[in-house]
Amino acid sequence: MALLKIVEVPDPLLKKKSAKVENIDDALRKTLDDMLETMYDAPGVGLAAPQVGILKRMVVIDVSREDEPKRPYKMINPVITAHSDETVVHDEGCLSVPEQYAPVERYETVTAEYTDENGKRQTVRADGLLAICIQHELEHLDGKLFIDHLSKVKRDMIVRRVEKERRWKQDSE
Ligand code: NI
Repeated sequence: MALLKIVEVPDPLLKKKSAKVENIDDALRKTLDDMLETMYDAPGVGLAAPQVGILKRMVVIDVSREDEPKRPYKMINPVITAHSDETVVHDEGCLSVPEQYAPVERYETVTAEYTDENGKRQTVRADGLLAICIQHELEHLDGKLFIDHLSKVKRDMIVRRVEKERRWKQDSE
């Protein structure tokens, strides 16, 4: 397995729509494993393929706590097929928007359908952090970030902060 480079804002790749996966083969399975390893290493609870520069509709998620057994999801061509009327507001972050957090409103529960790495169709009914994470990751596949839920002023401020922090890190290297 290998660690992949995570694309950060304001990279235009993050605004692109990803293409449907047509073929599930060993190369694709390796990419999913690499994405999972990259996510655990970051550390994060979700990672979408465009965040590592791959414009394909797939995401990895694991919202298990440190003291729990790992519970990785590898979702290919995922879609949300149902959701609750109730919503929740939760502070979100994103590995492509490092160290920035802001409240976003999401459906409290969602049902998602996807194909797993063996080509089998799966359905998951999620609540809590998993439901939030599924909604956040699936938006990446349509070029949308959590900061796109915020006002333009707030969004621009966050992107400027990320750029400033990155310049500061580069200068100190
Ligand atoms: Ni994200």
